[in-house]
Amino acid sequence: MPFSTPTLGALTLLVLPHALADFLTPTYPYPSDLTSNTSLVRAAWTNATETFDAYFKDGLNTTATAGILGTENVTFSFGLFSLEDPLAASDLQYHRAGPQTIAALNGTTTVDGDSIYRIASVSKLITTFAGQIALNNTVWYQPITEILPGFAIVNANRSVTAPDWSTITPHDLASHLSGIEATGPLEDILLSVFTDSQAKNISVYDVAAEAGLDPDYDPVALAQATLGLNLSATPEEIAAAIGSAPPVFLSKTTPAYSNLGFMLLGLVVQRISGKDLGVVYSDLVFTPLGMNDSFVNAPLASPYLERSVIVGPLAASWAYPVDAYTIPSGGLLSTINDLNKLGVGLMNSTLLPRDQTRGWMKPVASLASLSYNIGAPWEIVRYVHNNTGKVTDIYTKLGDSGSYGGMLALIPDYNAGFSFLNGQYEPLTGPQTRGKSALKLIDHIAAAIIPALEAQAAAEAVKKIAGRYTSSTVNSTLEIGFNETTIPNTSPSLNINSWISNGTDMLALYYESEKPRLLVSIPKFEAGCGEIVFQIAQQEQFPTYQAAGSGPFSGIYYSTFDWATFDGDRFLGGSLRTWRTHVDEQGFATQISNDGTRATLVKEV
Ligand SMILES: *[C@@H]1O[C@H](CO)[C@@H](O)[C@H](O)[C@H]1NC(C)=O
Ligand SMILES: *[C@@H]1O[C@H](CO)[C@@H](O)[C@H](O)[C@H]1NC(C)=O
Ligand SMILES: *[C@@H]1O[C@H](CO)[C@@H](O)[C@H](O)[C@H]1NC(C)=O
Ligand SMILES: *[C@@H]1O[C@H](CO)[C@@H](O)[C@H](O)[C@H]1NC(C)=O
Ligand SMILES: *[C@@H]1O[C@H](CO)[C@@H](O)[C@H](O)[C@H]1NC(C)=O
Ligand SMILES: *[C@@H]1O[C@H](CO)[C@@H](O)[C@H](O)[C@H]1NC(C)=O
Ligand SMILES: *[C@@H]1O[C@H](CO)[C@@H](O)[C@H](O)[C@H]1NC(C)=O
Ligand SMILES: *[C@@H]1O[C@H](CO)[C@@H](O)[C@H](O)[C@H]1NC(C)=O
Ligand SMILES: *[C@@H]1O[C@H](CO)[C@@H](O)[C@H](O)[C@H]1NC(C)=O
Ligand SMILES: *[C@@H]1O[C@H](CO)[C@@H](O)[C@H](O)[C@H]1NC(C)=O
Ligand SMILES: *[C@@H]1O[C@H](CO)[C@@H](O)[C@H](O)[C@H]1NC(C)=O
Ligand SMILES: *[C@@H]1O[C@H](CO)[C@@H](O)[C@H](O)[C@H]1NC(C)=O
Repeated sequence: MPFSTPTLGALTLLVLPHALADFLTPTYPYPSDLTSNTSLVRAAWTNATETFDAYFKDGLNTTATAGILGTENVTFSFGLFSLEDPLAASDLQYHRAGPQTIAALNGTTTVDGDSIYRIASVSKLITTFAGQIALNNTVWYQPITEILPGFAIVNANRSVTAPDWSTITPHDLASHLSGIEATGPLEDILLSVFTDSQAKNISVYDVAAEAGLDPDYDPVALAQATLGLNLSATPEEIAAAIGSAPPVFLSKTTPAYSNLGFMLLGLVVQRISGKDLGVVYSDLVFTPLGMNDSFVNAPLASPYLERSVIVGPLAASWAYPVDAYTIPSGGLLSTINDLNKLGVGLMNSTLLPRDQTRGWMKPVASLASLSYNIGAPWEIVRYVHNNTGKVTDIYTKLGDSGSYGGMLALIPDYNAGFSFLNGQYEPLTGPQTRGKSALKLIDHIAAAIIPALEAQAAAEAVKKIAGRYTSSTVNSTLEIGFNETTIPNTSPSLNINSWISNGTDMLALYYESEKPRLLVSIPKFEAGCGEIVFQIAQQEQFPTYQAAGSGPFSGIYYSTFDWATFDGDRFLGGSLRTWRTHVDEQGFATQISNDGTRATLVKEV
């Protein structure tokens, strides 16, 4: 045998029937039909939204509605979008006006794709997007002390137990690795001490003592030091107020969700772009992507007020005075139609170089759970397909604050995603159910559409790529099948059933007569390029080394080895493992060529 391929002995251990995706690339070419009447995605969407209707309109309590019980007071909107099927963004939406919206005194009493919600912490994604546009790589990794001079002043006299701003960068802030306080002054109990003192007309010192403050501390002095921030606080004032507060973690040790970090990132973006907060979002993101119904402050006048989802008292849940420096963390407002534009524009690299988008959409650090990773500021959900154990990474940013929340979710495997917005007013003194209800609603939609996107991608691959490819001059054929691989413990994929090259049985010669898998390595070079590249994969795949029955170190060979064995078997300077299909405008393969043999075979119709 001229080339050796690592061949793994059959594992006889008891293993879970679970397999992971092999590379982080999609298994199949992107699905392009999410909306036709025969699309599995539309079917799943219809089913999932009919379940919503059954519960919200008819009050049905069945197994199907079990996951969404108790969500009936939420006003919400969902929208699916796809770069491959632009109709999805308008066709696949669901809107539900909850009782507070139906009875709203201000704003809209119905909801649709143009209804304006607060988006809470989804704002952090837009702040980081603005940063991706405004900041170069030098600035992303530059110490805060070199960008915001106030922090240099604070740092000059820092004690060893204060944050070292010369080791904290914008990238640390964006990926929650700064280690600084979570919210800073915003959620300070001292705030309520002063409110209570005013409301009850008693001495602030008495209220502070009742709240458990050590009598050695003077609440008035503390408040001036930590809470003396106002709408027009300068970076210097902010630095002076919060710069010396002890870090919770050392920088770059663990992701630790910091709203305060995003307020500072907002200052960095303003400083570097030279734009005020009021225009930084519209100039850098909203206007270029056509997000004409997205705002920095809640609209209070026609024609936008009429489209605003105002679920509670106007002042308490909508028009509250905004602290300008909190906006980058959670202050923006948007619609489903606009968030869909954001998702499409972001994934399609409309405003960024394509490699920058790919680099941005990656984990920066792990969490302690195997199910989640953190990026800048991605909350990356490692969705596990129930039937196969395959993992699909979903790049999300959740919002959840006060009476509002939402999510933008991007799924690189399918070049698609979804947006979600919700609102429900709950007085601070009562139970807080909105946030949990929102997550149940997302679980419900995700459980329907992610398996459907996978199934649709597989069905299209079978229709468009699988089949027989032949040469008109020599005895060469390639047969691509689906889910017929002989490699054990793998999830469904395309695979090679037979490969004859000028009379030579290549699978017998190079692959021990196995039927190897064929996974997508390059789904698309750029818009309009009709080439999809595949890579032969031969290794078993498990979600963990325990599932493979391996040790922690042997597991890297024996549970997920394709990442290190790709591109082998080189022949005349090209790899026998690399296959290039040429596809027409509808994605149907017309021919395939192999980098090793150099032969091009034509698809039989
Ligand atoms: C799809 O189904 C809808 C509703 O059943 C129907 O109105 C429409 O004509 C169908 N479209 C196609 C292309 O079959
Ligand atoms: C729904 O049905 C289950 C099982 O029958 C029951 O335990 C539960 O209380 C019901 N919930 C509501 C909100 O009716
Ligand atoms: C429809 O949705 C329900 C849950 O919402 C699920 O149990 C059922 O399997 C779905 N049916 C199809 C055909 O997808
Ligand atoms: C919905 O709101 C009504 C009215 O405030 C309340 O009685 C009910 O308990 C709420 N339902 C849930 C599930 O929170
Ligand atoms: C993505 O960008 C390309 C240009 O690079 C453009 O041709 C295409 O229409 C865009 N796709 C969507 C869905 O906007
Ligand atoms: C909100 O509704 C109340 C009650 O109808 C009304 O008095 C008030 O003017 C409205 N506020 C705005 C900003 O429209
Ligand atoms: C990066 O941006 C900063 C701030 O705008 C600028 O001073 C610097 O020259 C830029 N560096 C490079 C390598 O472009
Ligand atoms: C640092 O502290 C010293 C001594 O208290 C003081 O003289 C100096 O002005 C301080 N420097 C800065 C930059 O605050
Ligand atoms: C996965 O399977 C578990 C156990 O059978 C079930 O409880 C859960 O609802 C399923 N999840 C999805 C997303 O289908
Ligand atoms: C793939 O093949 C396995 C084993 O024959 C079968 O259990 C599974 O249902 C198939 N999956 C698909 C998506 O066809
Ligand atoms: C195919 O094989 C035959 C002999 O087996 C050889 O003569 C011929 O050159 C080969 N053709 C190609 C295109 O390699
Ligand atoms: C092509 O080659 C294969 C493998 O050597 C052989 O089994 C088959 O008979 C050949 N077909 C023709 C038409 O020569």
